[in-house]
Amino acid sequence: MAINHRHFIAAQKLSQMSTVHIESLGYVGGNATDLDGWRHFGGELLGMQIEERDTSLALRLDDRCQRILVDLSASNGGAYYGFQLSDGDALDAARLALQGRGVAVHIASVEELKHRGVEAMFHFVDPCGNRLELFCGLAAAEEPFQPSRPLQGFRTGELGMGHVVFSMPSIAEVLPFYTDLLGLRLSDYAEEPFKATFLHANARHHSVALIESAKSGLHHLMVELLSLDDVGQAYDKVKEEEGLVGATLGRHTNDYMLSFYAWSPSGFLVEYGWGGRAIDEATWRPERLQHGPSLWGHERRCCINRV
Ligand SMILES: [Fe+2]
Repeated sequence: MAINHRHFIAAQKLSQMSTVHIESLGYVGGNATDLDGWRHFGGELLGMQIEERDTSLALRLDDRCQRILVDLSASNGGAYYGFQLSDGDALDAARLALQGRGVAVHIASVEELKHRGVEAMFHFVDPCGNRLELFCGLAAAEEPFQPSRPLQGFRTGELGMGHVVFSMPSIAEVLPFYTDLLGLRLSDYAEEPFKATFLHANARHHSVALIESAKSGLHHLMVELLSLDDVGQAYDKVKEEEGLVGATLGRHTNDYMLSFYAWSPSGFLVEYGWGGRAIDEATWRPERLQHGPSLWGHERRCCINRV
């Protein structure tokens, strides 16, 4: 099915009727065969606080108990994506709405709630098989945030922990799931140089983006820093290690994020950025992007053995 502006307007109207009210992207879970690699990558290079949890690493970005979970596994890749709702009532309404539309939802076990550090959660899969988790009550950490190396901090709060970008063979087949069912709103979209659709849940320009590619799964997750110098210093460190830069420093045309991309030990990219725009939903008008995806930079670097 071809995508055109009429489809987007229809999806936009449906998303406004959704009874699922996602506030933000709360956490991301990944699988890794090598936790040591993540201790180095997330901690020493990117400055996240690392906490040991049995067979997982909890990566902290702020006052919450964790924002990225890396679970020791036989394989690498993105594993689950947690979206925050306001409270238990909102969560119940969302679950009933999804069940009413035929989505198979699963209530989290006690172990899963403990592992995620949330009050309540249920999960289901999107049409591409990505495991999505809707939750409320991500616990605060007992200790203040302590980055692994000096930095000003990560921009989170009401904007959430960043954004995720999923690859898929057909955006048109998946988009209604995110807009109609999950209630995310269209920010903008591109047809060239590749098809991409950007969706927001709050003032962050996008919390989720869909890009068209032969593969399905997590393309990258983005975390945003409070200081440009924090990004520059991480870039210096990442550049020192052969094959780690996925895309050079650059600035995106739509969300204005000034960022670079690095290959995580889980095989997906981490975008490390600063300066993302906040949008005002009252005046925001979605449009087709004419230029992009970057104003400058973001040259892709291929790396052997990476996905
Ligand atoms: Fe991104």
